[in-house]
Amino acid sequence: MGEGYRVAVVGATGQVGTLMLALLREREFPAREIVAFASERSVGRELDGGLVVQGLGEDTIEGFDLAIFSAGGATSGEWAPRFADAGAVVIDNSSRWRMHDDVPLVVSEVNPDALAAHRGIIANPNCSTMQMVVALKPLYDAAGIERLVISTYQAVSGTGRRAVDELLDQSHAILHEREIAAPEQYAHQIAFNALPHAGGFQSGDDHTDEERKLINETRKILGDESIAVSATCVRVPVVNGHSEAVNVQTRSELSPERARELLAAAPGVAVLDDPASAVYPMAVDADGRDEVFVGRIRRDPGCERALDMWIVSDNLRKGAALNAIQLAELLHDRGLIAQPRARSAA
Ligand SMILES: NC(=O)c1ccc[n+]([C@@H]2O[C@H](COP(=O)([O-])OP(=O)(O)OC[C@H]3O[C@@H](n4cnc5c(N)ncnc54)[C@H](OP(=O)(O)O)[C@@H]3O)[C@@H](O)[C@H]2O)c1
Repeated sequence: MGEGYRVAVVGATGQVGTLMLALLREREFPAREIVAFASERSVGRELDGGLVVQGLGEDTIEGFDLAIFSAGGATSGEWAPRFADAGAVVIDNSSRWRMHDDVPLVVSEVNPDALAAHRGIIANPNCSTMQMVVALKPLYDAAGIERLVISTYQAVSGTGRRAVDELLDQSHAILHEREIAAPEQYAHQIAFNALPHAGGFQSGDDHTDEERKLINETRKILGDESIAVSATCVRVPVVNGHSEAVNVQTRSELSPERARELLAAAPGVAVLDDPASAVYPMAVDADGRDEVFVGRIRRDPGCERALDMWIVSDNLRKGAALNAIQLAELLHDRGLIAQPRARSAA
């Protein structure tokens, strides 16, 4: 058998899983074998590149060094601990383990050192949070952050492949003056609309779970529970690429010019900020790109220690698949994959 790790990709047929498989190959992750897992529906299906989809079972999950999950919270809840118990380090894309005390929540450019404390499961943050904290980290380090007011404009790919199909089907029907089918992925029509309802409203909460993720995950990743966060998450009829308007109130004064310099030098960030020439980040340009794009950086006229900015990134790449693979690379570089460990994340 060749050198390298034996890697499981769970959710390999999905949008994020497909991209993770491609990134493992493109970035030449040292894998000696990659095994694709998905639901029973897909078992036996041959994927691009020749991998044949396996089903999750006690006998099929043995012998992995690394397992990267992107198959929803229920699958991660059931199977991530089993992979970890069987000896794999798990990187999980779902929200299932993110706020667990024993589970590091890591963005490769922001808090890579948190990986060292892993006990078998590492969580990949929510896509909206991920791109935002990449842009906030250099500002946080320079001036601290007291408060964030966030409005997101989230693409339908963040909901999954079926939501993309629903947007395209509805758009097609409307353009051809046909009636649209009853929405299945969202509470209302998404085509030609904006829904102030990204994520779900759980048990009487007046915030969606997506908004709660932005609040809680931002604090966990930046390691600062004192940051006040106000978030409104909106689903818009964009296929791929989340946009965010973020008002950042810093603890010490930070000029837009200094913020621009800090962001231009930050890893994973690209500044696109010449609004007079119509240069600013846009979802259509971010689609397929690795960077977090930041523009419209300006002082909030209503608050002297606050800046406004516009942050855009490909939610399937940096918001999900790319960060997961970057975490795998960091684990490898830091010798954290084959470490003996005691797991207590159940
Ligand atoms: N899309 C984003 O922007 C984004 C960002 C961050 C995190 N995430 C998370 O990543 C995950 C997947 O997102 P996605 O957009 O790739 O969704 P998707 O396109 O709908 O794909 C879902 C994947 O999960 C698999 N799956 C579903 N039920 C399963 C089961 N019971 N056992 C094993 N596999 C199962 C599916 O397999 P079949 O093809 O066989 O059904 C498919 O491979 C979700 O947890 C999501 O929250 C997504």
